[in-house]
Amino acid sequence: ARSYVVLGIETSCDDTAVAVVSSEGRILAEAVVKQDRIHAHYGGVVPGLARKAHEQVIDELIERVLCEAFACSADGVWIQSAHRLDAVAVTMGPGLEICLRVGFHAARRVLARLTSGATSPRPTFISTHHLESHCLVPRLFGLYRPAFPFLVLLVSGGHCMLLLARELGAYDVLGSTLDDSVGEAFDKIARLLGLNVGGGGGPALEQLAREGSPFAFDFPIPLKKRPDCNFSFAGLKTAVRMAIEHEVKQYGASIEVTNLLQVNRQAAADIAASFQRVSLEHLFERTRRALHWCRTHEPNVRSLIVSGGVAANLELRRRFGELAYDLGWRLQDEDNNHFKNATSNPDSGSDALADSIIFPPLRYCTDNGVMVAWAGIERLQRLDDAAGEPQPDSLEVV
Ligand code: KG4
Ligand code: ZN
Repeated sequence: ARSYVVLGIETSCDDTAVAVVSSEGRILAEAVVKQDRIHAHYGGVVPGLARKAHEQVIDELIERVLCEAFACSADGVWIQSAHRLDAVAVTMGPGLEICLRVGFHAARRVLARLTSGATSPRPTFISTHHLESHCLVPRLFGLYRPAFPFLVLLVSGGHCMLLLARELGAYDVLGSTLDDSVGEAFDKIARLLGLNVGGGGGPALEQLAREGSPFAFDFPIPLKKRPDCNFSFAGLKTAVRMAIEHEVKQYGASIEVTNLLQVNRQAAADIAASFQRVSLEHLFERTRRALHWCRTHEPNVRSLIVSGGVAANLELRRRFGELAYDLGWRLQDEDNNHFKNATSNPDSGSDALADSIIFPPLRYCTDNGVMVAWAGIERLQRLDDAAGEPQPDSLEVV
């Protein structure tokens, strides 16, 4: 197979991310600028601010990674060596329209610079699908490269879904959220509790939850009676909000109550722990259901990939580690040097639905340029493969 070097550009939400990756799986250079702090005060990503922040850094980031990848120093010198660039891959959606445009135009500028006066062939422009990039990135890492078909639990601020990856370009949505994503729920609850969410609501809530009892509050597990793989967090969020309000009321008018955390840290921690338990239980239960469905409908599914910002949650990782053990699957966790063999469980065996549960390395769970470049490489490879085969047209004998 031919080898490729691809520049990936990601600007679909609040991370400006670029990377240069080779088809051998080498990350030649990468850079990410996060906007967490810009949006923290607003309770969500503000599209106009996000666009501006992308615009401010994108060209410089691209310049930097190209220079690093092609080992050049002075501004613009990469053009001479960047003939080794085979393609520029850009996230074209889904995402915030005005932010996606920033990445697209930046890609166009790179291509224009590389083309003007160059003798080598113009790099290919590849538009990539954001979700496909999340799904494919584990194929770049680790000792074990998940083969199609595989199952993906994608859990972040923007996404909450179960995807069946059949092959390149063919994904079935087995379930998605009916309202909020799980990351949004973590972020909202963190704010309601009065946590400082500057570094992300999820991590702050996870930390507070360590001080609390996960069974102190009996919030209902969402969609328990619905026999599908969808998610919902609106009802749980309301139940948690009411519990917080109830706790705060205990302090009546005597205290100027601004947040529960200030007046009763233990109650806040108990609520955080209980919310975390229930929301993770929901993710877990839906995933088991999807795996069960695969057993009859897609018996070739041999791996489950858990990705997205929420996959950083240690409690979630612990739960999926237990699942791996129960079912005798291997577990490939964040550092990827590990490939734990969980098959020592004697009760597993025939019940095994898949061979492995895979967590991509943490920094590639969240939005990044590497996953975009890699999705571009897989696309190029497929084009290559297709070129070597007889085209359907040529087989037609009239
Ligand atoms: O993938 P990501 O960086 O960006 C989006 O595409 O949204 O995910 C960010 C989301 C946020 O909602 C954040 O609160 C959540 O992932 N998150 C966590 C944890 N770390 C990040 N949620 C729960 N526990 C964590 N440790
Ligand atoms: Zn994403």
